[in-house]
Amino acid sequence: MRPSPTWWILGDGALGRLFAARLTTTLSLHLIGRRAAASPLRYHAPSGETHEVDVARTTLATQALHTYARPALVVLATKSHATLSAVEELAAHVDPQTPLLSLQNGFSIQPRLTETWAGPVLCASTTEGAYVEGDAGVVHAGTGTTWVGDIHNAWPTLARDCAYWLNQAGFSAYHDAAIVQRLWHKLAINAAINPLVARYRIRNGQLRDQPFRRMVDTIIDEIGPLLEGEGIIPPPAGWHTLVWEVIVATANNRASMLQDVLAGRPTEREAILGPLLAAAKRQRCSTPTLETLYHDTPS
Ligand SMILES: NC(=O)c1ccc[n+]([C@@H]2O[C@H](COP(=O)([O-])OP(=O)(O)OC[C@H]3O[C@@H](n4cnc5c(N)ncnc54)[C@H](OP(=O)(O)O)[C@@H]3O)[C@@H](O)[C@H]2O)c1
Repeated sequence: MRPSPTWWILGDGALGRLFAARLTTTLSLHLIGRRAAASPLRYHAPSGETHEVDVARTTLATQALHTYARPALVVLATKSHATLSAVEELAAHVDPQTPLLSLQNGFSIQPRLTETWAGPVLCASTTEGAYVEGDAGVVHAGTGTTWVGDIHNAWPTLARDCAYWLNQAGFSAYHDAAIVQRLWHKLAINAAINPLVARYRIRNGQLRDQPFRRMVDTIIDEIGPLLEGEGIIPPPAGWHTLVWEVIVATANNRASMLQDVLAGRPTEREAILGPLLAAAKRQRCSTPTLETLYHDTPS
């Protein structure tokens, strides 16, 4: 095994805790939240077993954090709308060339960070699923696959190295030279599912019933041509199959946007629907369904 680097994870929420609980077994890891928090983390594995995992949970203001080695990479595990301000706070504490790994859904923060951050910005698209339980718990709701790349495919070695450490920690991770395509495909899925289930407060599987089924299909009918107009290659079986396969596979799930609405937290509406409306504007294309969807989705 290669010598272990130091990584920081910024954001002590669902995905931050999941990545921390796994990565702390293979590298030097600090999980950074907004408040001081106790260790160990309680990691509830998909098998149903619970493990107590010692994770260094800290804040950027904690002096002790700065006595350790500088991070070789910082994983950004904040929600999309919280990421820019989190990175601004981070900037005062790390070398400006430090590589970042964005875990955010949507396609909003990734191009902005790529333009503004001096160092490499890797982006991940992951189908791992997690939610928090109390102050120190994380439920690993479903195992998945994580793809890592960067928007201009300028950092393939770094992305492969990152995937290597994720694999060492037990994730299934790969470098993807076409991560932009993958991020937009996931955005299409999230746009067709999350706003509707959040608005109507239903589980994903209920989208198979009318009137929701028709609504999903109408949304996909607008998204497909729009993405192709942005140069995104359609999935082999088509946009409808891509979305409906996820709805079937996650039928019993409460999507994260619904969980945010139920908890009174801001949603990722801007990160998911904003890029589609911007694409429609660029292409001078009318998208009445997406405009209504944006308007009706809790922010
Ligand atoms: N959860 C999943 O299964 C999953 C799967 C795929 C992708 N994603 C994506 O991953 C990202 C994170 O999702 P999540 O579910 O982990 O969200 P989450 O549970 O809400 O966690 C986000 C965490 O970021 C913290 N945070 C906000 N601003 C911060 C700052 N300035 N400094 C440090 N920490 C800060 C929040 O702290 P407070 O509690 O103090 O607000 C919260 O603990 C999202 O973009 C989501 O779309 C999630």
